[in-house]
Amino acid sequence: MKKPGRNDPCPCGSGKKYKNCCLIKNEAAGIDLKRLYLQKYRIRLKNKDDIEGIAQAGQLAVETLDLVESRLRIGISTEEINTIVHEFTIARGAVPAPLNYRGFPKSVCVSVNNVICHGIPDPYKLKDGDIVNVDVTPILNGYYGDTSKTFYVGTPGRDAVKIVKVAAESLVRGVSKVKPGNTLGDIGYAIQHYAEGQGCSVVREFVGHGVGLDFHEPPQVLHYGRKGEGVILVPGMVFTIEPMINLGKKELRVLDDDWTAVTLDGSLSAQFEQTVVVTENGCRILTPFDPLAGL
Ligand code: MF3
Ligand code: CO
Ligand code: CO
Repeated sequence: MKKPGRNDPCPCGSGKKYKNCCLIKNEAAGIDLKRLYLQKYRIRLKNKDDIEGIAQAGQLAVETLDLVESRLRIGISTEEINTIVHEFTIARGAVPAPLNYRGFPKSVCVSVNNVICHGIPDPYKLKDGDIVNVDVTPILNGYYGDTSKTFYVGTPGRDAVKIVKVAAESLVRGVSKVKPGNTLGDIGYAIQHYAEGQGCSVVREFVGHGVGLDFHEPPQVLHYGRKGEGVILVPGMVFTIEPMINLGKKELRVLDDDWTAVTLDGSLSAQFEQTVVVTENGCRILTPFDPLAGL
């Protein structure tokens, strides 16, 4: 059927103009939101099937992190963590998205201590007191789930405990703002306000992102910002929140490998990441785990 114009008689036969009748209901039902968000923001709102597919990829991602955690010990190399992630992902019928992504050479990002993100697995052996972020993204049945956690290796020092706890709580506070009608700026503000209030800093150069049908989709999800600014959250939006929090200053540099991002001042950095979907009433975490558990 041809789409009625706003001023045409409503196809339901009420006798009212379409704009004063079913158009309102259609908008409420998200029929035109899908078109609007695609045209205005290039954001692809996900349907029920998409969301189930992303949830399955997300569940696999969480299980991958659980496996890594169970195998973590002093002396394990980050290269061995890569092998664990790679083999488990393949065994489950999925593909590790990082491998060959824009030239990334490994199947997982492993970022130790002052490495903010995009650490490349190598022969470095984890030592007592290190913190290590493991960021996994399997592609399962064409759907992407993206999640990361920062782990303690052996016995953490005071600085390690501080930055890991602040990073975990930053993510939780960001996720708590995910509901229809709030904005991306509300999420960024909540994270920045909390993290800076703890005397830490928020990395600017890397952001959360739409995810699901592709690794990185619009929108960008800033981990800083102002309340009420940015895109309004609507049901079906799927994106990551993944604040990178530094114990010292926010500035970074990228090593000669063109990937590894480290704090400029050498301070510790930690990160947790989840994939979420905006629902009618709030939010569903598609990579379900409690960031604060065990810290
Ligand atoms: N998983 C990272 C993210 O959260 C992206 C890593 S890109 C890679 O967005 F190429 F380094 F894997
Ligand atoms: Co991500
Ligand atoms: Co990630």
